Amino acid sequence: MLEFLKGKSNHFIGVDFGTSSIKAVELSYKDQKVFLENYGIVDLNFLAGSDFNKQKEIGKSYSFEQNLAEGVMQLFEKMKPKAKSANVSIPGFNGLITIIEMLDMPDDELAKAIQFEAHKYIPSSLDEISMSWEVIERVENASLPLAQKIGKDANSQKIKVLLVAAPKKDIDRYGKYVATKNMKVGAIELETFSLVRALVGEDAGNFLIIDIGLQATNIILVEKGIVMVNRSIDAGGNEITSAIAESMNISNQRAEALKKGERDFLNNKESALVIPVLEFIASEAKRIIGLYSVKNKEARIDGVILSGGTSKMKGLEEYFARLLETKIMVGNPWIRVMAEDKARVLVENLGGSFSVALGLALRGIEEYKRK
Ligand SMILES: Nc1ncnc2c1ncn2[C@@H]1O[C@H](COP(=O)(O)OP(=O)(O)OP(=O)(O)O)[C@@H](O)[C@H]1O
Ligand SMILES: [Mg+2]
Repeated sequence: MLEFLKGKSNHFIGVDFGTSSIKAVELSYKDQKVFLENYGIVDLNFLAGSDFNKQKEIGKSYSFEQNLAEGVMQLFEKMKPKAKSANVSIPGFNGLITIIEMLDMPDDELAKAIQFEAHKYIPSSLDEISMSWEVIERVENASLPLAQKIGKDANSQKIKVLLVAAPKKDIDRYGKYVATKNMKVGAIELETFSLVRALVGEDAGNFLIIDIGLQATNIILVEKGIVMVNRSIDAGGNEITSAIAESMNISNQRAEALKKGERDFLNNKESALVIPVLEFIASEAKRIIGLYSVKNKEARIDGVILSGGTSKMKGLEEYFARLLETKIMVGNPWIRVMAEDKARVLVENLGGSFSVALGLALRGIEEYKRK
């Protein structure tokens, strides 16, 4: 009855456009609980647009864009979602998340000052960028460089502003893929925020998320739910497979299968391989944690959470624990979701590879609860 009065659907779908696959999760909200309604995945390698021979066979050529649109259509056909609009993510790589420190000032002046600051980080014209910001902290009696104090009250409050920006063309592009016959575009956000929502949620601690996909890795430092650092690296599982193939002198296909198997390539003295991409990710993670603890003497990282398809790699937890000298957890974004027993086993196996899609669907639930 209440649902009827509210006049809106309690079903929410999130769609993650990864480079290996498109993943979707549909959730519903009933009796203050979140239920898994359905999920789906389309492997981009098996779509016609990724395979030149298949294109020849069907006598049609697909661009990369058409391929993604086709993939979403197939996904929705299989899932038959009840949700009427879909939340979509933009790869962390395509956006900017940064914290800027400045003096407090009235809102209208602040907007202008932030635009000015943003120019330092964004080389392209601001007209082409969609930008949002939020004051996340106010600090009394800040000591700012003299230049910034001139003409202002030396005792002004310093503020920390979280600035988020992404190119408008990417926002439009990702939105367009999901806008199909029965589906509207809901919210569009950087996948960084979807990951944080799915893996950290309301947890008040400080965490480092390491999400390793196929072609991209996101390292995110979250302090009490707020993104403090977001580092995107242009490499991922792809490079792990290549490293295994090269070291063992085998094909990439064989290396991919071995990588997903039970052999530990990372920790056994006799069988460990050098995997440069993982060493690089670990050194970046270490650098980010180091910088954070220098800046925030009292704060410490409560845990490192692994996510993305690569988080399932045998021995990865132990590997990072050794290199980062901290406790590592493989993120399980499904903990807070109710699912039928049969589905639960399946989704727990999928684990972290659905974090982004789940985080997007959870955004729908959070907004629903607020209304
Ligand atoms: N059991 C496993 N062990 C090791 N790697 C795995 C395993 N399962 C999947 N992977 C790797 O995970 C990667 C895909 O991860 P994911 O689905 O998170 O990527 P994506 O979101 O499509 O890509 P991206 O975010 O990089 O655009 C692939 O490199 C795949 O080889
Ligand atoms: Mg991904």
